[in-house]
Amino acid sequence: LKRDSKFAEITPDHVKFFKELLGSESAVIDGVNADAADDLEPFNSDWMRKFRGHTKLVLRPGSTEEVSKILKYCNEQMLAVVPQGGNSGLVGGSVPVFDEIVINMARMDKIRSFDEVSGIFVADAGVILENADNFLQEKDHVFPLDLGAKGSCQIGGNVATNAGGLRLLRYGSLHGNVLGIEAVLPDGTIVNDLSKLRKNNTGYDLKQLFIGGEGTIGIITAISILCPQQSPAVNVAYFGVESYEKCQQAFREAKGQLSEILSAFELMDGRTQKILEKVVSKKLPLEGEYPFYCLIETKGSNGDHDSEKLQNFLEHVMGEEIVSDGVLAQDQTQMAELWSCREGITECLGHWGGVYKYDLSIPLEELYQLVDETRERMIKAGLLGDTDEHPVVDVVGYGHMGDANLHLNIPTRTFDKRVEKELEPFVYEWVAKRNGSISAEHGLGLTKKPYVGYSKDETMVKIMKQLKDLFDPKGIMNPYKYI
Ligand code: FAD
Ligand code: MLT
Ligand code: ZN
Repeated sequence: LKRDSKFAEITPDHVKFFKELLGSESAVIDGVNADAADDLEPFNSDWMRKFRGHTKLVLRPGSTEEVSKILKYCNEQMLAVVPQGGNSGLVGGSVPVFDEIVINMARMDKIRSFDEVSGIFVADAGVILENADNFLQEKDHVFPLDLGAKGSCQIGGNVATNAGGLRLLRYGSLHGNVLGIEAVLPDGTIVNDLSKLRKNNTGYDLKQLFIGGEGTIGIITAISILCPQQSPAVNVAYFGVESYEKCQQAFREAKGQLSEILSAFELMDGRTQKILEKVVSKKLPLEGEYPFYCLIETKGSNGDHDSEKLQNFLEHVMGEEIVSDGVLAQDQTQMAELWSCREGITECLGHWGGVYKYDLSIPLEELYQLVDETRERMIKAGLLGDTDEHPVVDVVGYGHMGDANLHLNIPTRTFDKRVEKELEPFVYEWVAKRNGSISAEHGLGLTKKPYVGYSKDETMVKIMKQLKDLFDPKGIMNPYKYI
């Protein structure tokens, strides 16, 4: 990848313009006039420490008008930009590749309104997901998205990546929940589509292009979203299961018997749980060891009703030997403890140095088969083993089974070209053959840029490019990424 010479290099004059525009000292991190490498570092490197950009300028606007003026100027001056939320993305989309200016949204963190009758919440893009959720919980509501990075990711970033998370099974995708978007186009135009309507059939639904657009056509500055009522009765169970086949049976039973109260169905293979045990000395909830574990959560409005359903379900799956052992959380602390067996995986996998991450949609029946085949491949290539000569530590699978979304992860001691060659295009071909998706929820960013063709045909890629050109004719928005 080479820096595109069509983009201007940042000069002290540009910086002067931004300082005058944004006023406050903390709104501009200036590495052009002085060395600011340390201050710029967190904005240049991503969560996995896999990607590193070389920006010399970070701008932190405080209002939609400021975003508009920044983009208008950048567009006129041919300055490339990267929109950045909480920088928790996992595909290298949120950091610069070269010297693109980072436009970080953290200062736009105001909640604008909440309607307790309709459940419609409107807020700036830079509100941290956990803050939005805490605010809503005080009003007996929840944000319809939850994920392990909630303490740092922003709702604008969530929408820009169309994040899926742990309860998509229950609340659905952001494509359905987001009712409106306010965004700024590269030429500074403010698109005010901050609708609070559930139904609005007045032509093309333009906001959908920003949902999952990954900052390539504009910057989201605010969102309006439908939030469900908080459920007073919550239960979490964790099961040991003897085979993937039985995990599928458990899922069918859960859907059938728990139906409307089922709020999450997550899968963890035994290896992920062993890694948790080893890396963070976690005491696992069950005594025995199993090749698979499932986490089931229910949320309902009537505790007695839910308990009865859950009890029947447990008796059934244990009686039929669909699950081998299980534990039901007795209080909030135990619930959090069980959830940490699932949510803690991501962080642990980075323990040895690197991790190759694949976030895939695969028909449920074959979902786990890919993990086995990938492990066999690594063994055959002599890359997987316990010693330092082997780059690969393990091959593991976990994910949102309820959404047919597998996270295939390969923790490694170092990022190694030989490993990469075994994995790609193997994984993508495997998925394409089954009409799956090479990105279920994390997006394409930089990592999957060369592989879009495995999930979208030529016509679709062509139309995506035409749309990109329409919104961003000069190509300043998040260049070098997937489009
Ligand atoms: P960033 O990482 O800053 O940006 C992501 C992309 O969006 C970039 O391309 C960026 O340019 C663009 N962007 C950011 N803000 C804006 C904006 N305001 N306007 C336009 N473009 C913007 N993802 C899931 O889907 N499900 C999960 O369960 C999940 N769990 C995770 C757990 C952990 C521990 C971590 C580290 C990540 C996880 N993720 C998950 C990845 C997920 O994509 C992000 O956590 C989140 O959605 C990104 O939000 P962010 O604010 O950090 O965005
Ligand atoms: C998750 O489900 O835990 C996230 O998507 C992060 C990951 O893939 O590790
Ligand atoms: Zn996930």
